[in-house]
Amino acid sequence: MSNGLRQGLTSYGDTEFSLFLRKAFIKGMGYSDDALDRPIVGITDTYSDFNPCHGNVPQLIEAVKRGVMLAGAMPMVFPTISIHESFAFPTSMFLRNLMAMDTEEMIRALPVDSVVLIGGCDKTIPAQIMGAASADKPAIVLPTGPMLVGHFKGEQLGACTDCRRLWGEFRGERMSGEDIDVANGRLVPSVGTCGVMGTASTISCMTEALGLSLPGSASVPAVHADRIRMAEATGKRAAEMAKGAGPKPSEILTEAAFRNAIVTLQAIGGSTNGVVHLSAIAGRTKNPIALETYDEVGRDTPVLVDLKPTGQHYMEHFHQAGGVPRLMQELKDLLALDAKHVAGGTLGDAIRNFEDVAGQTVIRPRNAPLKSEGGLVVLRGNLAPRGAVLKQGAAAAKLMQHEGRAVVFDSVADMTARIDDPALDVTADDILVMRNAGPIGAPGMPEAGYIPIPKKLAQQGVKDMVRISDARMSGTAFGTIVLHISPESAVGGPLALVRTGDRIRLDVKARRIDVLIDDAEMKKRQTEWQPPPVPEVAQRGYAKLYLEHVQQADEGCDFDFLAHPSGKP
Ligand code: FES
Repeated sequence: MSNGLRQGLTSYGDTEFSLFLRKAFIKGMGYSDDALDRPIVGITDTYSDFNPCHGNVPQLIEAVKRGVMLAGAMPMVFPTISIHESFAFPTSMFLRNLMAMDTEEMIRALPVDSVVLIGGCDKTIPAQIMGAASADKPAIVLPTGPMLVGHFKGEQLGACTDCRRLWGEFRGERMSGEDIDVANGRLVPSVGTCGVMGTASTISCMTEALGLSLPGSASVPAVHADRIRMAEATGKRAAEMAKGAGPKPSEILTEAAFRNAIVTLQAIGGSTNGVVHLSAIAGRTKNPIALETYDEVGRDTPVLVDLKPTGQHYMEHFHQAGGVPRLMQELKDLLALDAKHVAGGTLGDAIRNFEDVAGQTVIRPRNAPLKSEGGLVVLRGNLAPRGAVLKQGAAAAKLMQHEGRAVVFDSVADMTARIDDPALDVTADDILVMRNAGPIGAPGMPEAGYIPIPKKLAQQGVKDMVRISDARMSGTAFGTIVLHISPESAVGGPLALVRTGDRIRLDVKARRIDVLIDDAEMKKRQTEWQPPPVPEVAQRGYAKLYLEHVQQADEGCDFDFLAHPSGKP
């Protein structure tokens, strides 16, 4: 008598009375005894008027419910917070752990036998998987799906790689104010997540590779009928999981599953944020990931998916080409196909019925990769003792080995105030350095690592420069950009010690990022360093909790007290 409505009873000191009371209340909503005796599938409702990436959630919920009931279980919807990239101050990353805690505690508190996690916008699925991994009840993910492609003056557009590209054109005065306004209305032509291989698409693809969502669920566009059918099928599967008690996240999130996700991350040319989020998810399990694993896997994994920002197509086209199952057929020798899958069998079973689309060019064969090495590399050096990440797939080849003079900005605000100053002493060969933009420094590790090219250089046609910071970058962005420098400057990492005029050397082949000053000078600067003051907002509440407990980027920026007690990578 411990499943369905009978589980997790509220404590009144009399279990029979607790059940009696619970049933009395829920019957107020018109449920019958037959309905209430069924296994219960919880469905997270992350709809919000502030979250267009989740605009189809009400429709998806209806279809999931249909699937659950067709399979003889009882669907129960419950809300959690919802986070959209552009509607989260100071950053969505600041709120990811709050959503993870909300999701975890609701799954634990409510009498659900399994749960369908409906998410999509960048931080939401990572937060949901983190929470589900810790609650460890049977869980299946349903992404909201990517938005459609937009069109402007004969070219295709997708948020938000093209948002950045067009904004760069406008800043460089190569696009008129009138045109940028029209393009603004064309970049997001439907609900759903960003249509390029940004963070949301990266996470959805990795979720498929982890074995936590049904095959094909990453790429079906948000507004397609197939997305609704995917929701129904997910509901059916969740009902089977509720009846059969499994599998649980702890059975799926194995070392092999994480490796499968990293192979996929590298092969899709995925977002650097994929590293932070996957590390945070792994940190909730007994199988944490060492940062070097991403690099090690990347050396053997080619980029095969030709999507923006690394390539040229959009998620809609990836779907038409066969999506993740088709990609995985190309990667079979690199994957653990015997990894357990939420669909019931193994990953190998899940991708068996892939669609082979003749003539498609979006998913490349192994003998004609887009890049021979994976999209992401891990750097170390005296500037990043605990590591940094660079998306080499989206960087300029000529800057892969580069030495230049540092031009330092002390914060995001300082960078914003001075970057376009005509008097700024900067050339195209310099290296732009920004600090105090990490998990603690900003706070919330904003996606500000995509430091804009100074206006006067943009007007001269400069499209890329080496830029380094302890910030993150949107998965939709591109450029030679070193991110996630750990430890961050706000806790005294070496980035805090760099001064304008220092020489910095980036050597991607050697996986190094170094400031060319000697140890004695580094030590002297370290003794002079003062930590930045704690912002007033962090005197209380969630901000205080966040600043006191957030971990560094190499550990995924989870709170230290939420990580699995088994230890660190
Ligand atoms: Fe939601 Fe890009 S803003 S996925």
